[in-house]
Amino acid sequence: MFEELLQAPALASWLGLLAGLLAVYLLYSSWTFQDKQKNPPGPRPLPLLGNLHQLDLQWLDKSLFELSKRYGPVFTVYLGLKKVVVLAGCKTVRQALINHAEEFGDRETSPLFHDFSKGHGITFSNGDGWKEMRRFTLTTLRDFGMGKRLSEEKISEECHYLIEEFEKHKGKAFDNTTIISYAASNIISAIMFGKRFDFNDAVLPDMVKNDQETIRLSGSASIMIYDAFPMLGPWLKNWRDIMKNMENNKRHISQLINTLKETFNPDICRCFVDAFCTRKLSLEESDAQGVHYHDDNLVYSVMNLFAAGTDTTSNTLRWSLLLMAKYPQIQDRVQEELSRVVGDRQITMEDRRNLPYIDAVIHETQRFANIVPTSVTRSTSRDVTFQGYFIEKGTTVLPLLTSVLYDESEWETPNTFNPFHFLDKEGKFFRRDAFLPFSAGRRACLGEGLARMELFLFFTHLLQRFRFTPTPGMSEDQLDLTPVVGFTLSPLPHQLCARTDL
Ligand code: HEM
Repeated sequence: MFEELLQAPALASWLGLLAGLLAVYLLYSSWTFQDKQKNPPGPRPLPLLGNLHQLDLQWLDKSLFELSKRYGPVFTVYLGLKKVVVLAGCKTVRQALINHAEEFGDRETSPLFHDFSKGHGITFSNGDGWKEMRRFTLTTLRDFGMGKRLSEEKISEECHYLIEEFEKHKGKAFDNTTIISYAASNIISAIMFGKRFDFNDAVLPDMVKNDQETIRLSGSASIMIYDAFPMLGPWLKNWRDIMKNMENNKRHISQLINTLKETFNPDICRCFVDAFCTRKLSLEESDAQGVHYHDDNLVYSVMNLFAAGTDTTSNTLRWSLLLMAKYPQIQDRVQEELSRVVGDRQITMEDRRNLPYIDAVIHETQRFANIVPTSVTRSTSRDVTFQGYFIEKGTTVLPLLTSVLYDESEWETPNTFNPFHFLDKEGKFFRRDAFLPFSAGRRACLGEGLARMELFLFFTHLLQRFRFTPTPGMSEDQLDLTPVVGFTLSPLPHQLCARTDL
C-alpha cells in the first residue's frame, strides 16, 4: 500500500511526461507536415554554409540535376545564406515560366548582378525601368531588321569576312575561337553603333576578351562564394578581375556612344544609340516622362546586348563546328543537303525551310551544347503557391535548363548528339516543347530571333565552303566534348582544319 502510494505520484509524473512528449511530438509532426506542404523540400542545410558542402560548385548544373532526382522538380538549396528554389524538368520549368510568367518574372538582384549593371539596362534590372528598356530594345532590334532582310544582309556580309579569315589558314589546323567571336560581335556592333570593326581593330578584341573572361569567371566557385558572402569581394581575385573588365568595357562603350552623339542628327537614325537619343529627345520635347532614357540605361543596355549577343552565339557556332568534325557522317548529310538544295549560290534565310536536316542539326547543337545550363537566375515578384509549395516574394529561382534539354522523359537519347530528335518519320523538321535553350516567359532571351538567324547563316555559309576535320594524325574519337564551365559552357580549347580540298 505504502509502495503504491509512493508509486502513484511517480506513475502520474511518468504519465504526465509521456503526455507532454506526445503533445510535443504531435505539435512537431503537424508543424513539419505543414512545413512540407508549404516549402519546397531539399537537403538539410548547415548554418552559414547552407548546402555548399553538398554541391559540386564546379558542375553546379549537374549537381542540382542529381538532387532533383531525389527531391523532385521543385526543391530548395541554400548557397550559403541564400535560399534558392530550383525548378527542374521540362513540364515544371514551362509551367513556372510560362503559366506563372508574372510571379517568376523578376531577375534576381544578387550582389554580382548588381555589380554588372547597378540596376540599369535590361538583363539585370527589374520594374518599370526593365519593362521600358526591354520594350524599346525589342522594337529597335526589329526596326534594324532582327529576323528580317536587313540583318540577313549584315550577317551574310560578315560570313564572307569570316570565310576569308578561315581561308588564310589554307587547311591547316587553327583555333577558331577569337575570329568567330569577332564575327558575332560585329553583328551586334552593326546594330548598336552602325559599324563593324575590322578584325585587327584595337577596341573589339579588348571588349570581346573582357566579356569572355567575365563570363568564364562568373561561373567560378569563388564568385558563387562572393554571391553568398559579398563582403569577401575585395579579397577574391576573380571578383576584382570581373570589376576591372566591366570598367574597361564601360569605358570603351561610353567612348563609342560619345563619338556617335557628336554627329547625332535626329532625322537620320544610324543605330540603336541614335534611336535611344531620338526617343529621349522626343520625350523631353513632348514633356512626357522620359525618366528611363538616361545615360546609365543607355550604356548598360548596350553593354548587356554586347555581352549577351557575342559569347552565346559564337560559343554555339564553335560547338557546331566541333560536332561536325567529331561526327563526319552527320557532316556528310549536312553537305549533301546543302549541295542538293542550294548548290553554289548565295544562301538566304528562305532556304531554311528546305533544309530540314540542317535545321535539326543546329537545334540539336543548341540542345546538346546546353550553353546556359542554369539560365539567368530569376526571383519571385510576389508570394506564389506553385505545385502545392509556398514560395515567398523575392526568393531566388533557378530554372535548371540542363534538366529540360536533357530531360529523360522528353528526349529519346538525351545524352547522344542526335539530329533525329527534331525530325519526324518523313524527315520533316519539328519543334519540341523541351527545346528551351533561350528559356521562356517574360524574361526569355530577347535576341532569340537574331541568334537563330546568325546560327543558320554562319553555319551554312561555313559548311558550304569548308570541310571540318580534326588536326592531322588525330582521330574523331579524340575530339573532347567536355565543356569548360563558366557562366556559359564552351568547348575546351581545340584546333580544327577548315579544308576546301575534300
Ligand atoms: C545562341 C544564342 C543565345 C542563347 C542560347 C541565349 C540564351 C539566353 C538565356 C537562357 C537567357 C535568360 C532568359 C531568362 O531569364 O529566362 C537570355 C537572356 C537574354 N539574352 Fe540571350 N541568348 C542568345 C543570344 C542572344 C543575343 C544574340 C542577344 C542580343 C541581341 C541576347 C540578348 C539577351 C538579353 C538582353 C537577355 C536578358 C533578357 C531580360 O532579362 O529581359 N541573347 N539569353
